[in-house]
Amino acid sequence: MFHPSSKDVELEEEEFRLLRDFIHERFGIYFDEGQRASLRTRLLGRLQSLDLDSFEDYYHHLRFSPQRDEELARMITHITNNETYFYREQPQLGVFSDQILRKLREQKQRSGERTLRLLSAGCSTGEEPYTLAMLVYDSGQFFWNWEVSVTGLDVDPVALDKAQRAAYHHNSFRGVDPGLLERHFSKNGRETAVKESIRRMVRFRQGNLMAAQSYAGLAPLDVIFCRNVLIYFSDATIRTVVGHFWDILAPGGFLFLGHAESLSRITDRFTPLRFPGAMAYQKPEGV
Ligand SMILES: C[S@@+](CC[C@H](N)C(=O)[O-])C[C@H]1O[C@@H](n2cnc3c(N)ncnc32)[C@H](O)[C@@H]1O
Repeated sequence: MFHPSSKDVELEEEEFRLLRDFIHERFGIYFDEGQRASLRTRLLGRLQSLDLDSFEDYYHHLRFSPQRDEELARMITHITNNETYFYREQPQLGVFSDQILRKLREQKQRSGERTLRLLSAGCSTGEEPYTLAMLVYDSGQFFWNWEVSVTGLDVDPVALDKAQRAAYHHNSFRGVDPGLLERHFSKNGRETAVKESIRRMVRFRQGNLMAAQSYAGLAPLDVIFCRNVLIYFSDATIRTVVGHFWDILAPGGFLFLGHAESLSRITDRFTPLRFPGAMAYQKPEGV
């Protein structure tokens, strides 16, 4: 039987629509018409590995094969963008450590509650949650007898494996000054590893931001960072995800999005807080 080489396999318009809608329904990520070639390139290797002749066959495999769950877990790694690095978007991180942590510390001093719970939603390979832990550590505000936890949540198992290893190459350090490098990292051959003092504050879990059960046990959270994730979602998905954030944030809790992301078309339930060079959203107190 003739098998075309998978590099010749086209992603026809109808196949593109089927796969695009399937991915959107499962993961919220939306590939628009202009990204057909990109989706083809990302998934071509999967056709090859599974010895399939067309993207239609791949779609049927994803929907109906007994191995569909395993394939979904493999596919997700190919369709996500995992770009991230330590200390990304400094002005926003400055607001977090100078203003937000101070506010939270004051709020909690009044209530006598000695916990600080943060979430990095769409944490990729871990640079963001480790950065948050470093900022909390360096703030010197939350230490003795405080229970500080940073959770990194992502759907991509390969990215999470890397996050758990906590060892990185130079590309992850483009925003890190030498003093911070020395304080929070140790050299390990060609890799640079996050020190144990930071690692012990951070844990990771696999989950889909669209599914309420992914957040089980995390509430009430003080701060959620969800940066450079919503840009890949449709408005409908963003509404679902932000609805979950609302549910798990403590009253008075804060939400940080990426600089290209906003809630303006999505919801007016959060209070926008504007700072020089950065903004954040707050869930009002008393709700
Ligand atoms: C570009 S990275 C952003 C990393 C980090 N937040 C930052 O700003 O540097 C986007 C991450 O979102 C994750 N992601 C995309 N869709 C997701 C979903 N439905 N559930 C959980 N994570 C998702 C991807 O796996 C990827 O690791």
